[in-house]
Amino acid sequence: MNKFYVTTPIYYPSGRFHIGTAYTTVLADSMKKLHLLKGEDAYMLTGTDEHGQKIEEKAEEQGKTPKEYVDGMAAYAQELWKTMKIDYNDFLRTTEERHVKVVQKIFDRFMEQGDIYKGEYEGWYCVPCESYFTETQLVDGKCPDCGRDVRLMKEEAYFFNMKKYADRLLKYYEEHPDFIKPEYRKNEMINNFIKPGLEDLCVTRTTFDWGIKVLKDPKHVIYVWVDALTNYITALGYGSKDDSLFKKYWPADLQIVGKDIARFHLIYWPIFLMALDLPLPKTILVHNWVTMKDGKMSKSKGNVIYPEELIERYGLDSVRYFLLREMPVSQDAIFSPEGFVERYNFDLCNDLSNLLNRTVSMVNKYFKGEVPNYSGTPNEVDEELEEYCLKQISAFEEKIDNYEIANALQEIWVLISRTNKYIDETMPWILAKEEDKGKLKSVIYHLIENLRKIAILIKPFMNDTADNILRQIGVKDEKLKTWNSLKEYKNLKDIKVIEKGEPIFMRLNTEEEIEYIKNLMKK
Ligand code: ME8
Ligand code: MG
Repeated sequence: MNKFYVTTPIYYPSGRFHIGTAYTTVLADSMKKLHLLKGEDAYMLTGTDEHGQKIEEKAEEQGKTPKEYVDGMAAYAQELWKTMKIDYNDFLRTTEERHVKVVQKIFDRFMEQGDIYKGEYEGWYCVPCESYFTETQLVDGKCPDCGRDVRLMKEEAYFFNMKKYADRLLKYYEEHPDFIKPEYRKNEMINNFIKPGLEDLCVTRTTFDWGIKVLKDPKHVIYVWVDALTNYITALGYGSKDDSLFKKYWPADLQIVGKDIARFHLIYWPIFLMALDLPLPKTILVHNWVTMKDGKMSKSKGNVIYPEELIERYGLDSVRYFLLREMPVSQDAIFSPEGFVERYNFDLCNDLSNLLNRTVSMVNKYFKGEVPNYSGTPNEVDEELEEYCLKQISAFEEKIDNYEIANALQEIWVLISRTNKYIDETMPWILAKEEDKGKLKSVIYHLIENLRKIAILIKPFMNDTADNILRQIGVKDEKLKTWNSLKEYKNLKDIKVIEKGEPIFMRLNTEEEIEYIKNLMKK
């Protein structure tokens, strides 16, 4: 059986997660579910990145110990993922012993191998971003990422010798065209960071305590990347007594990260793995950001939107659909109340929900709810519809294999539109008046078959909606719900639709809902 190991970044539990942050996780979950549906052994990892000065300061603000603070946040994260029906197999917290012990071992090994050396670090430090910047990187003397004040700091620190691996990394990129998706991210890495000369990475701090101590020099705390990135293997038991999961699932098939942490995953992570003599992940997928019309989401701008609030009013699947559908490969997605309501009303209500409703009501009206099997007289357009459908399924697969998620979803919606158009072309209400019901039977059969295929296609992304469609059209046989069953027009015997169709998405009042979402953002 094929295995599929997919990871999200581990999240900084420094505050609530907005819909942008949720994007990575929804995407990883969808990819896991797609591979499960294909009959593979899919395994998904997520978790929380719980160390660092920012967390220490957050805890203090709230009068808590760092441990109390991260315990609360990890529980919050798990609750949110439950609300979003994220089907992860493991949730790793970097404060767990299973992680801490192995990180210390890895650090020791790097020191022994001479990959890590002691030096001195000086730079402008931004506490919220946990990053040092050079003088020239600052924007108006402030942090180039968040615009806040920076402090000049200098400290004894350990460094990882990245230069040593630069050529090997370039060669790896060249020989593995699927390693980085989309491809332009690879060129960014080469041109912006590797070609100008890779700088060694500072991997410890002495200015705070809340972190994993270097065993041989405990005044140093392992700082961010050796701690954070290794979670993808420590979670599988790498370096521990029981590494059976590691043997089974590593290398990862897909690691998903946002663009802000692309550099760490595309340069430092492969280099750490090379230093550990481990195989590299098959693909690292870098996605863009969810932004607002006026730029980045931020509390100070009053334009933040949280997933729970949208889910409560509009249901989970519309939020998942919006996020996945709106994220282009080469630009940021824009969340706007208008855009959300429009997708809801057009794609989900007009296109998908209406197709289901029209079909279910025709089966009831013309055939007392019993789906006619493929026994009728093929209509002129039936063959064309079948070909079209199979072509769209291939187009979907092509896009998804290249991790172009929004485009892949678009291919499904092209099929939905084509199927709606098929009703208008064949005009079943006219065929119903003919004495010979052969043509009508064929049309209804094709509509049900297309709905069945559409449900299977959307299932990884919108599980409940897919199940709801299959229930309404009366498909109960598990064999008719598999990925393999997509490729054929099947024998649909003894299938009965529900007596009265239930709309899966009801039309929203555009103005009212735009107002409602705007108020959520202001809150
Ligand atoms: O970066 N749109 O954690 P994090 C889309 N702990 N994605 C967004 C986003 C937005 N508006 N804002 C954030 C970290 N993200 C580290 C990772 S991994 C070894 C360590 C994404 O909580 C961001 O790009 O700041 C990242 O992929 C994820 O949310 C977690 O970000
Ligand atoms: Mg971040």
